[in-house]
Order: sequence, then C-alpha cells, then structure tokens
Amino acid sequence: MRFDILTVLPGLLESPFAHSILHRAQKKGLTEIHVHNLRDYSSNKHKSVDDYPYGGGSGMVMMIEPFAVCIEKLKAEREYDEIIFMTPDGVTLNQGLANQLSSVKNIMILCGHYKGIDQRVRDLYVTREMSIGDYVLSGGELPAAILVDAIVRLIPGVLSDETSALSDSFQDDMLDAPVYTRPADWKGHKVPDILLSGNTPEIEKWRFEQAMERTKARRPDLLE
Ligand code: ADE
Repeated sequence: MRFDILTVLPGLLESPFAHSILHRAQKKGLTEIHVHNLRDYSSNKHKSVDDYPYGGGSGMVMMIEPFAVCIEKLKAEREYDEIIFMTPDGVTLNQGLANQLSSVKNIMILCGHYKGIDQRVRDLYVTREMSIGDYVLSGGELPAAILVDAIVRLIPGVLSDETSALSDSFQDDMLDAPVYTRPADWKGHKVPDILLSGNTPEIEKWRFEQAMERTKARRPDLLE
C-alpha cells in the first residue's frame, strides 16, 4: 500500500514514519510513504504556495497551482483509490473508516495550512475530506500522520501478532479491558487474581465484563 502526502512542511513528517511499527512496515515492504514538498511545484520565482484571499479577510490561502501540478504528476504515474484532504470540517476519522481504507492500494493525502486551500483543489481532486476531531490544529500534517498510522497497523503482516489489531479498542465497538504485566504485586497493588489463574474461559469472560463496564462508563454512545 502506497501513501503520497503533499505538504509545505515535509520536515514535520520525517519523524512519525521513521520509528516503530510504521518504520518496520516500510522496511518489510508492506507500505511505502512518500512525502512531497509543495514548494517544489510552485512556478513562482519565490516558490510561494499561498496568496491573499479573494474578497478580502484575514489569513492566506494555499494556491491551486502547486497542488494541481503535483497531483497531476502523481496521477499520471499510478491510479489513486482516494485523494484525502485533512481538514477540521471533514468527516471524523474512526476505526470503521480506518478499516475500510486499509484495503486500498494507493492513497494521496493533502495537507492544508494558513486559512485553508483554494476551494477548486477540493472540488477538482479530493475524494474524501477527513478530520481527526473537533479541534483546530495548525496544519494537516499531524492529522495525516495519524491517519496513516491508523491505516498501516491494520495491513496484514504489519503487526507481529495479527490478532492484536483485531482486539484493539473500537474494533468491536467496545473499549479494551485493562491489561497488566509483571510484577503481580507492586507495593501492595495487586494484579486481579483471575489473570493469574490460568483459567482461559474465565479470563475471557472477565475481560469482556471489564470492557463492557469501561465502555458503559466512558463511551456509552458506542453501545447504542
Ligand atoms: N487540520 C487542522 N485541524 C485539523 C483536524 N482537526 N483534522 C484534520 N485536519 C486538520
């Protein structure tokens, strides 16, 4: 699976993909993540990518040309299943959407900045607009990294124990049960006896009950 991310701040995306699971997924050849600097696609002699908004108002708007030139170049090289624009007014990312997107081949992600991007980019190219939550960040780069992480960990073979992605919180519309590791007793704070019992059916039952209790208390909306 291949990702192409278009941004004016490629440096912001160097670190998130260079560690841990995302790094390993690339090394194993299970995913490719390419970051493109929109300034490289500006025809302007100052390599500017933004301009004042028509009609006035505060803030700068990202111009269509660098996006259009970069998108057209990439589209000439391969077909994209999705061209996603990260924006707080998009559809909120959830596990279901991540699952859906983990089965496609090529995804392009557009990161906005400043006041926004020229509406014509959205009208002409974008297939989906996605938000990571009801708050405004300074740009789409961190949301793009979150989207890629949520998708890549679901690609078969990325996690060493494939069942661990399936047992994630939200996969069954429920939060996870609490987990513990050694020591069994830390300064009098003990791990629940059931987890030390070796009784697998009873442990599964306990985990389900705990998950249900946690979901009811914290996210009753998931059970509706
Ligand atoms: N860009 C700025 N804020 C964002 C958000 N909450 N989700 C996606 N993209 C964004």
